[in-house]
Amino acid sequence: MSKIKVAVIGCGSISKHRHIPEYAAIPEVELVAFCDIRLERAQAYAGQYGARAYSSYEELLAKEQLDAVSVCTPNALHAPVAIAAANAGVHVLVEKPMATTSDEAEAMIEAARRNNVVLMIGHNQRLMPPHVKAKEILQSGVLGKVLSFRTSFGHPGPEGWSIDGRDSWFFRKADAAMGAMGDLGVHKSDLIRWLLADEVAQVSAFVGTVDKKDTDVDDNAICVLRMRSGAIGSLVASWTYYKGEDNSTVLWCENGVMKIGTHPEDQVIVELTNGTVERYKVGAIATNTEQTSSGVIDAFVSSMLTQTPPSISGEEGLRSLQVILAAFEAQAEGRVISLS
Ligand SMILES: NC(=O)c1ccc[n+]([C@@H]2O[C@H](COP(=O)([O-])OP(=O)(O)OC[C@H]3O[C@@H](n4cnc5c(N)ncnc54)[C@H](O)[C@@H]3O)[C@@H](O)[C@H]2O)c1
Repeated sequence: MSKIKVAVIGCGSISKHRHIPEYAAIPEVELVAFCDIRLERAQAYAGQYGARAYSSYEELLAKEQLDAVSVCTPNALHAPVAIAAANAGVHVLVEKPMATTSDEAEAMIEAARRNNVVLMIGHNQRLMPPHVKAKEILQSGVLGKVLSFRTSFGHPGPEGWSIDGRDSWFFRKADAAMGAMGDLGVHKSDLIRWLLADEVAQVSAFVGTVDKKDTDVDDNAICVLRMRSGAIGSLVASWTYYKGEDNSTVLWCENGVMKIGTHPEDQVIVELTNGTVERYKVGAIATNTEQTSSGVIDAFVSSMLTQTPPSISGEEGLRSLQVILAAFEAQAEGRVISLS
């Protein structure tokens, strides 16, 4: 069987730490091309993998016979690149947030449907071992219904992560559309929807730029969510946790509480009202400094090989994005936003 020919578009940090090494580890995949507007970044990987380098994704799509691409560019390019790839008949794995508006996300879903290609979104939080364990426990029914929750993601900001450091696109609205909310908040809106198997019904929020300089995007947000089930919780995203990084979720349920990512060794802790305490060591939640295999690339390749829909679809990415967009609307209008 011939190998799956993959190109990576955008050769920055997420490509370096996850997409490229994870594709390279899959025997059925051949990395055939790399693209970055800074050609030397694409050339470095092309040299390493015996592949070709491009500075234009249009040229890459016109010249290469590809099966799939990873879209790892700044957020504002996700939709145009993903749609161009789908129209070239190429399967698409796109990083989060999948797009900058609902219209863009819907156009991506439609382009994938029309061209009969896979569209998968890189919402890797769902695949992290503590979250997989938490989902399994919730599904077992031992905790009963989730009544309230908090979910947070905060770190010191993308200057310590992006390949361009302090000069990164992450700080420019034209490229990023959103700051901490698009970077971190959307991870948690996706996580909470998936964990609770529920949709967000209403959003209220404060979103602002509290401390970062020379930027037109948000660095902090605190949102209040009401789920369709009636459960109420908070979602926090921050780029100013200069000390005390947080990537944790706590769910208070009818029969007890589940704490995820609150303890360094026991990543999931379940304390029941009957006095029972269960602690699980299942491997840490990946952080910028502690990278583990995301599982996203394996899942994408598996979806192509087995010709089954991807586990994290465009529709899922759209709903998680809509929660974040609603928070911006809530902030701008000073009112509660209802999601249909
Ligand atoms: N799933 C996760 O946990 C996770 C983590 C970090 C970033 N991301 C997402 O991955 C995407 C990329 O982020 P990153 O951290 O790698 O950023 P980065 O700044 O490290 O890299 C972005 C790269 O894109 C390149 N680029 C810019 N314009 C381009 C164009 N027109 N064509 C080709 N390449 C272009 C830049 O030169 C740079 O090399 C973002 O959407 C981000 O939200 C996801």
